Amino acid sequence: MTEQKTDVIYQTDALIAEDIDAYLETHQHKSMLRFITCGSVDDGKSTLIGRLLYDSKMIFEDQLEALSNDSKKVGTQGQDIDFALLVDGLAAEREQGITIDVAYRFFNTEKRKFIVADCPGHEQYTRNMVTGASSADLAVVMIDARKGVLVQTRRHSYLCHLIGIKNIVLAVNKMDLVDYDQATFDRIVADYAAFAEEIGIESFTAMPISGFRGDNITIAPSENTPWYDGPSLVEHLESVEVLADVAADKPFRMPVQWVNRPNLDFRGFSGLISTGSIKPGDAVRVLPSGKTSTVKSIVTFDGELDEAVAGQSVTITLNDEIDCSRGDVLCVADNPPETADQFEATLVWLNDEDMHVGRGYWLKLGTQTVSATVQQPKYRIDVNTMDELAAKTLSLNDIGVAEVYSDKPLVFEAYETNRTLGGFILIDKITNATVAAGMLNFSLRRSQNVHWQATDITREHHANMKNQTPRVLWFTGLSGSGKSTIANEVEKKLALMNRHTFLLDGDNVRHGLNKDLGFTEADRIENIRRVGEVARLMTDAGLIVLTAFISPFRAERQMVRSMLEDAEFIEIFVDTPLEVAEKRDVKGLYKKARSGELKNFTGIDSPYEPPLKPEITVNTVAMTPEEAADHIIKQILPLK
Ligand code: ADX
Repeated sequence: MTEQKTDVIYQTDALIAEDIDAYLETHQHKSMLRFITCGSVDDGKSTLIGRLLYDSKMIFEDQLEALSNDSKKVGTQGQDIDFALLVDGLAAEREQGITIDVAYRFFNTEKRKFIVADCPGHEQYTRNMVTGASSADLAVVMIDARKGVLVQTRRHSYLCHLIGIKNIVLAVNKMDLVDYDQATFDRIVADYAAFAEEIGIESFTAMPISGFRGDNITIAPSENTPWYDGPSLVEHLESVEVLADVAADKPFRMPVQWVNRPNLDFRGFSGLISTGSIKPGDAVRVLPSGKTSTVKSIVTFDGELDEAVAGQSVTITLNDEIDCSRGDVLCVADNPPETADQFEATLVWLNDEDMHVGRGYWLKLGTQTVSATVQQPKYRIDVNTMDELAAKTLSLNDIGVAEVYSDKPLVFEAYETNRTLGGFILIDKITNATVAAGMLNFSLRRSQNVHWQATDITREHHANMKNQTPRVLWFTGLSGSGKSTIANEVEKKLALMNRHTFLLDGDNVRHGLNKDLGFTEADRIENIRRVGEVARLMTDAGLIVLTAFISPFRAERQMVRSMLEDAEFIEIFVDTPLEVAEKRDVKGLYKKARSGELKNFTGIDSPYEPPLKPEITVNTVAMTPEEAADHIIKQILPLK
């Protein structure tokens, strides 16, 4: 076995010496390929990436220095050792960086620039892979030639396929450890081909390599694999079609990142063109408003352009003054994407906490951010067997299909057609954690056929007729904390003050509107969502609404708050310690919960999240219900 000579392709130094201008020119116009490496632990990802960086001489100066210091320390020299040290260094950096998600490494050859997402393994692997893969043109699926196709290989290939990576390289690595045996290689390729067909991967390119020895990395065939007649890994990476080229042939779309208005004479819309191309004079449409105009100019740092294509960041000015702001999408006028607020989506759950059906999450799709809820999954996919399984929720690393509803229309395209306008993430509103990555499959027809009906008697009319400002007094606290009692007192006092009110009480609403709901987390979320909607309708009618529900989760109280106008939502925390509520045990429910007769009881075996910043807190140990009511009235009185 010999180390392969690898410096044929990388002649940058010579070129720089010859002609610096020519060098810069070539480099500026080189295309960029983004790829990820995946596979199971120990299959040689670090070694392969080390090899690519090493062979392309893209090790940074300080790294080189550190490496040569190290090699002095351990008293070694020479290329092989430096290479080994580099690989160790990368592996160590990755171990330390486990919490930093994905490390992006950069290298380049004469033909192309490359960014490889080095995704750390371990439990967070799916998360890291999804992060790295969402912008990748290609995936290198690594296989240890001694082990063949493993569960991880299947799982990662499936994820790559799901994320829409069309170029898959099956890198059968460590060929040196199986004596470059062709039969071993052929068997692994056949195994993988059978699996690939099963999950719908149309094609892949297999190559026998050794990251450690350098076989078939830059030149093929390596003298150790004379039987291989395909390209080397680098040759292949240099020649596959990148997403940006495919994207350029599609209709023009540009999500607007910001509106550029340095002075009154200039108003431009800036963003990254996700697909297609655009020229001055082209007719464009702004979505979701649907307004149209024509392009006046395309501006960049380097001046105005006659044409701009997918992958370029530009500022576009229009010939008409039409409304357009961040989150809108500028597109070709006669072939716009769809706008909808209900979708079927495929989700990859990335959070330790399970998905909460019906909970409001922030949904970010390109430059658009909306509030969205996910319905109970239609099914979950077992990535090992590809079976569709019934599921009530999604847990860490689960992949499932569910309906997603957004509170405002989204401009979108199916993920399959456009990753930018079809791929999204879900963010927990309280912790800001990214909890899921998703792909929009299609919109649900019903969302296109239900339109908001504008009415002539507005909420202002209703409120003025009642001579009051509508409010929602949202009481929250444990069962038996005194919410209903105090809310009832407050309502009586408001009635005496000629205020028009309505009290929505948990136990009562659960007899009618919400009689189909129990006390699981999902049912409680739905309970509060419905009550929130009803309270909102009542404020539209001009009423002061009082609600008495445990409403144990911050996220849903926040959801109701965000459904209402500013300052309309007044959160009142009825602060009664569990011991006190339990001692009172007005309905005898705590006793039942303690004995195990009643499950999911708040405070016992179901959580209660106290408000962090309620507008009003009443301490029912220190105050009687009457005093608590007075305290509340005093606080809200200035509000008319
Ligand atoms: S919430 O959690 O969804 O906001 P809600 O206020 O509607 O609850 O209903 C709570 C009332 O239902 C309690 O006051 C109690 O009378 C009754 N109840 C019955 N089972 C439970 C349970 N498992 N947990 C809490 N309350 C329960």
